[in-house]
Amino acid sequence: MNLLVTGGAGFIGSNYCRHVLQHHPEDSISVLDALTYAGSLSTIRDMETDPRFRFHQGRIEDPKIVDRIIQEDKIDAIVNFAAETHNDRSLIDAGDFLTSNVIGVHVLLVATRRHKLQRMLHVSTDEVYGSISSGEFTEESPLMPNTPYSASKAAGDLQCRAHFVSFGTPVIVTRGGNTYGPYQYPEKLISFFCARLMDNKKVPVYGEGSQVREWIHVMDHASGIDTALRMGSPGQVYNVGDSNERRNMEVVEILLDELGKSRELIKHIPDPREGAHDTRYSMSADKLQGLGWKPSKTFEESLRDTVRWYVDNERWWRPITQRLEYQTFVKSFYGPGLGEDL
Ligand code: DAU
Repeated sequence: MNLLVTGGAGFIGSNYCRHVLQHHPEDSISVLDALTYAGSLSTIRDMETDPRFRFHQGRIEDPKIVDRIIQEDKIDAIVNFAAETHNDRSLIDAGDFLTSNVIGVHVLLVATRRHKLQRMLHVSTDEVYGSISSGEFTEESPLMPNTPYSASKAAGDLQCRAHFVSFGTPVIVTRGGNTYGPYQYPEKLISFFCARLMDNKKVPVYGEGSQVREWIHVMDHASGIDTALRMGSPGQVYNVGDSNERRNMEVVEILLDELGKSRELIKHIPDPREGAHDTRYSMSADKLQGLGWKPSKTFEESLRDTVRWYVDNERWWRPITQRLEYQTFVKSFYGPGLGEDL
């Protein structure tokens, strides 16, 4: 297949490209990425010389560039990773989230239909279900998003459903859990904390750090998406989760231990997400497992490997944390209490 991977210069998208190049020698990949603050050519440098890999800069909301790539690169299917993804940023201003996560998805759905593509796979998140205190979400659970980010993702998912029902567009949605691994922009719990701890800077734990997240390694997430693309049925939703439920503080303890840092670097701060902070995520991935997919990583071991990746790849993340945009966000979001350590 010739795949158009949108958002392929980001965290999960780039790792998905690595998965495809390794496991499907007959496939080619055309990446379309806007290179917004979270996308970077340094993230895909290792694939640039592969003749099956092409890069195009542009936005998914631009139908002209989407149409041109589909025609010129003879695309068979779209896999959409392009999105604004950070909850905290969506609390400051959600405008870009609506543009990418709703309008952008609409443009890709229209293109899938117009060019009669075999498939579109839309990558979404377990956050569309909201928070669950006991039990686990299934694909049938109601959508109850709690942040502007997760609401924008839910709106994208509903566009996919509507295009399948209205036009028979062959679209599949996956909903992934909290993802960790190499090349994650250093603003999320694990990547942000690794970068700060390596510099002996304090790390801001929201409240007590008792929220529970279900963690999945990025390569397991990538293989789950790929299974849904190739084996799934149009119009269906598949959860991509691993059952690694951990409280935030449990994760932070492993980071400190692997890096050999003191607990004194933990700074509990008033929760900036307040009422919108989901207390627990948990979902069943039985439906995807029914297609033959299984996660392969052990959580603690892979988390420690991930920490070591950030230690060994400072050349990748250091330039990001030195950018003005990055420093401005961290200072303005976390305020003077943390800013003094910057
Ligand atoms: O569940 C899937 C979602 O996972 C994805 O849809 C999102 O794009 C992705 O960002 C992630 O969402 P979270 O908001 O759960 O991830 P984040 O790493 O931002 O936060 C994880 C937990 O850690 C959450 O309870 C908030 C807490 N946290 C986060 C940051 C950045 C802190 O205590 N301190 C921090 O500085």
